[in-house]
Amino acid sequence: MTFPATASTDHELGLGAIRRARELTEPALRDIVDRLGPSLGGVGRYHFGWWSRSSGASGKAIRPTLAVLAAEAVGAEASDAVPAAAAAELVHNFSLIHDDIIDNDELRRGQPAVWKEFGVPAAILIGDALHSEAFGALLNSGRPGAAAAAMRLSTAMREVVVGQVEDIRFTERPWTGEQAVRIAEYQSMAEAKTGALLAFSASAGALLGGADTAVADCFDRLGRHLGLAFQCTDDVLGIWGDPAKTGKPVFGDLREGKRTLPIIAALTAGGSASERLGVLVERGVRTDFELRLAAELVEEAGGREFAEREAARHLAGVDDCLASLAMPAETRACFEDLAQSLIGRSR
Ligand code: IPE
Ligand code: IPE
Ligand code: MG
Repeated sequence: MTFPATASTDHELGLGAIRRARELTEPALRDIVDRLGPSLGGVGRYHFGWWSRSSGASGKAIRPTLAVLAAEAVGAEASDAVPAAAAAELVHNFSLIHDDIIDNDELRRGQPAVWKEFGVPAAILIGDALHSEAFGALLNSGRPGAAAAAMRLSTAMREVVVGQVEDIRFTERPWTGEQAVRIAEYQSMAEAKTGALLAFSASAGALLGGADTAVADCFDRLGRHLGLAFQCTDDVLGIWGDPAKTGKPVFGDLREGKRTLPIIAALTAGGSASERLGVLVERGVRTDFELRLAAELVEEAGGREFAEREAARHLAGVDDCLASLAMPAETRACFEDLAQSLIGRSR
């Protein structure tokens, strides 16, 4: 990716875009969550970091930012994208709350996950409510393009759910041998579970900004590449990330036996570290010593490097999509800076 002359290594442009998207989207999200009433709404406010018992940590707002930038790219006002931005953030948070139940993860954004704080039934129900509110946010907006965006959201959510099913089913397969998960299978799972929602965010922002289907499809491809780059980075952070920054449990993915890209790549690399890793994970990785050793072997076998290269490859895919789209130079620079910041991130 060629850096624009105005971009800086501290990602001022990307961060500025995130700030704008947050400021525009948060009031709409707060209204929606408040409408759920004191009980369920309280659970929602806790998760979004707006409650006295919350740690205050909020999400990175990547999806609303993509929606806002896409609307600006097609010549509309950033505010035109708010229903798409809110819908994307609502379904994203629904998927995280349910994902933590599924993955048995106790920590999210540095605080106990919703299921841990309020119990599984409350976590299921707030997720259900956010999912349904996302469609309401789009369809009640009355904006041209909203119905087409809602159709895309429905398709994206089907993909996300199918991706989550694949992610779970991978953990039922052997780590090594004929039946082991292959890199191509990982890629299709990651595109579905993460890429589809980033694709929705960008394409729905464009649609609400008045773009036609062909332009929206190009934003869809951009979002998919960014989603894959993002998930590869998330997998690296899932092993080597600092829990104080990621807000997620240390070695969470290894502990749960998740087939993330660094592990799959390390197991299929061949060589001594790869074979030792295979023996270790087949036996089960439970103690802190085993978890640390597994992380070391994944790195030694080249799994980390592979995942980082994959993230860079998908970043180049984002670049190709940007090159095929006409947009103001400033918006292009924001997209580029945002994409760069996401693969270099620590949280
Ligand atoms: C986490 O997404 C789940 C993945 C798709 C990897 P984010 O990292 O965007 O979550 P928040 O909203 O910033 O917490
Ligand atoms: C992220 O799943 C995708 C969805 C929630 C749909 P992960 O399990 O990979 O994400 P984290 O690491 O829990 O955020
Ligand atoms: Mg998870």
